[in-house]
Amino acid sequence: MISQSGAGSRTDARKWIAAGRVAVNGVVVRTPDHWVDPARDRLTLDGRALEQEERVYVALYKPRGYVTTYKDPDGRPTVYDLLSGVRQFVGTVGRLDLDTSGLLLLTNDHGLADRLTSPEHHVEKEYLVKAAHLLTDEQLNQLRSGVTLDDGPTRPAKVKRLRDSGKYTHFEITLAEGRNRQVRRMVEAVGSKVLKLVRVRVGVVTLEGLEIGKYRLLSANEVRTLNKKS
Ligand code: URA
Repeated sequence: MISQSGAGSRTDARKWIAAGRVAVNGVVVRTPDHWVDPARDRLTLDGRALEQEERVYVALYKPRGYVTTYKDPDGRPTVYDLLSGVRQFVGTVGRLDLDTSGLLLLTNDHGLADRLTSPEHHVEKEYLVKAAHLLTDEQLNQLRSGVTLDDGPTRPAKVKRLRDSGKYTHFEITLAEGRNRQVRRMVEAVGSKVLKLVRVRVGVVTLEGLEIGKYRLLSANEVRTLNKKS
């Protein structure tokens, strides 16, 4: 909650707590996991009240060519370049590769962000894929039942062939886990390559109505549903 107030990072907060500078309702707390009810408890740092920053939940339609990072050492455009108008500092919920487009969630609600990205949390992520070859039913079945990657076997996935055009298969894949470059690595594991990747859904949140490069705020209902599944 200290980091949510905008006063400092979570690392700062831990140091301040360890140093006895933080009090809840006038009583100094010593453990970082001390439970605080933002609606009722009064939190102070060095005796001064900390106001909680308003929570904000953003759904961005990330274009290809944008890096999912705050500042890119190579000077490439970042997803934050697309968020003018969002006053609070929001962190990304997971990441999309430079060459992936689609739905990226950002929020200053660290609790929800941590839950959505934790390996135990199985929120569905749906992608549209263009593969570099015509894929056989057997290859799609392999993706469905799980393939072995260098960080272990993948969980069963939902896979639907959308169309074959010329030399390429377009398909939809829904994963309930989110490892680094997972879709690309899975497609490589069955002997092809991803030519185009778009994330179209995370849990109940979809790209519907969003233009590429634009963002919208999530509705209270969307936030409630994302929280329920965590
Ligand atoms: N899987 C990938 O391979 N890349 C992404 O950006 C997201 C999922």
